[in-house]
Amino acid sequence: MSDCAFGVCDGSGFVIDEESNTAYDCRCRPQIIARRRAHSLSAVIPKIYQGIGFDRFPVTEIEPQATVTATRRFAGRIDEMLDTGRGLWFMGTYGNGKTTLAMLVTQAALEAGRTAARYTLPDLLRQIRRTFDTGSHADLFKQLVSVDLLHVDDIGAEQTTPWVLEELYSIVNARYEEQRSIVITTNILDRETLREQISERTVSRLTEMCDELQVLGPDHRMDLRPA
Ligand SMILES: Nc1ncnc2c1ncn2[C@@H]1O[C@H](COP(=O)(O)OP(=O)(O)OP(=O)(O)O)[C@@H](O)[C@H]1O
Ligand SMILES: [Mg+2]
Ligand SMILES: [Zn+2]
Repeated sequence: MSDCAFGVCDGSGFVIDEESNTAYDCRCRPQIIARRRAHSLSAVIPKIYQGIGFDRFPVTEIEPQATVTATRRFAGRIDEMLDTGRGLWFMGTYGNGKTTLAMLVTQAALEAGRTAARYTLPDLLRQIRRTFDTGSHADLFKQLVSVDLLHVDDIGAEQTTPWVLEELYSIVNARYEEQRSIVITTNILDRETLREQISERTVSRLTEMCDELQVLGPDHRMDLRPA
């Protein structure tokens, strides 16, 4: 069964020329790539953040605009940033657009054909816990370390235990050593509190890997309540 839109290849996007034994791109290959990209976008970007853009509300309203500009610059050079392991750290109070900005970076990575994974930290920890039952801890860990961009939302929102601190540290440290980018958002504004929450050695590595961007402004979820 061929999935090729032109009925030419076997659905792989490649055609093999038997005589010369070489593969060349089928006419359907751009479609296949676009479909794969759309699929990874929808799998990684939650519904509420799909369709976000730098020139669109609410990003146009996020304060300060300097933070938006810096994020846009980062997203515009995403390949270079990912190749050098640079990251961003969005900090600010509730509902003012941190996750939206981080999603724009994740979206840029996926659109550039890079791999990305996005978790809230509490979710990530839950998934890690689950792997201990199924014996797949090593697989998840490998994936968390090898993905081009790891976006972790809501750092500092979780209950800390020695186990949580160790898991978070292992992931951050492994990415630090491999020079792989990480984008985080947190509601914790001062570094000392964050150190107490997620440990000094983790904060220290994140500080080196990420440029800090403050997001200010009120909780905009309040604006969206029905009157
Ligand atoms: N500056 C803004 N103006 C208007 N609406 C905004 C603005 N920033 C975000 N929003 C809207 O407010 C909601 C919260 O945005 P987002 O999830 O990005 O915030 P957040 O800073 O990550 O929040 P939290 O700290 O609770 O995780 C979304 O519905 C978003 O569309
Ligand atoms: Mg958020
Ligand atoms: Zn084809």
